[in-house]
Amino acid sequence: MISAPQPVPVEYRHRPLTRPEAEALHRELKTTPNILGYTVRELVRARDVWVATADGAFAGVMLSLDMPLGWTELAALYVLPEYRGRGIARELFDRAWERGASRRRHLYALSRNKQVQEMMRRRGMVLDGALWRAPLAVHLFMPLYMSSPYRNVEAFRKAKSMRETAPLLQGIWRNPDAGPGARRR
Ligand SMILES: CC(C)(COP(=O)(O)OP(=O)(O)OC[C@H]1O[C@@H](n2cnc3c(N)ncnc32)[C@H](O)[C@@H]1OP(=O)(O)O)[C@@H](O)C(=O)NCCC(=O)NCCS
Repeated sequence: MISAPQPVPVEYRHRPLTRPEAEALHRELKTTPNILGYTVRELVRARDVWVATADGAFAGVMLSLDMPLGWTELAALYVLPEYRGRGIARELFDRAWERGASRRRHLYALSRNKQVQEMMRRRGMVLDGALWRAPLAVHLFMPLYMSSPYRNVEAFRKAKSMRETAPLLQGIWRNPDAGPGARRR
């Protein structure tokens, strides 16, 4: 009897993206209405990154960004199409969550994706479509985030596909352990 090939085991590492990975991710992010995107330079410089690889090949990523006032955004979750449906996103999300929570950060996420919204709900985030109710940290951080000419061009280019996708929901989780000891790194 011929048995089906076993999927390659996936490795997860907390490390910066290599330049080829950042370039691949930059191209991939252009294809989804769910994430505005990042320049290659931003992706290479990001430090709070979980990377999934399968047999050495780049398979997925979760990027977290620190905002002011002890908040961290679980900012970009992306799994390359050929690796989807194998639990990689869930594992990346859980690792980013554990790291943020253990750094005693409050956590924030924004998503149009039902699968990701389910992950947010499962972790106890309060989901809310009224973005004006975002924490002050988000209101302080967003102008800086949106000051990127690259993201403005992408917002314009993706406007139609974003309108056709499910609305954005924010997830808010206030860390009960947050306080003066919250770690910056
Ligand atoms: C959304 C995305 C990250 C999911 O990646 P993935 O590795 O395929 O997800 P997983 O296999 O970990 O599945 C996550 C959950 O969705 C469920 N799921 C998987 N495929 C599904 C499908 N086709 N329909 C509905 N649910 C599905 C899984 O059962 C799992 O639920 P569980 O954790 O309760 O078991 C991936 O599709 C992607 O990169 N999409 C484009 C970018 C994007 O939308 N990113 C999110 C931005 S907020």
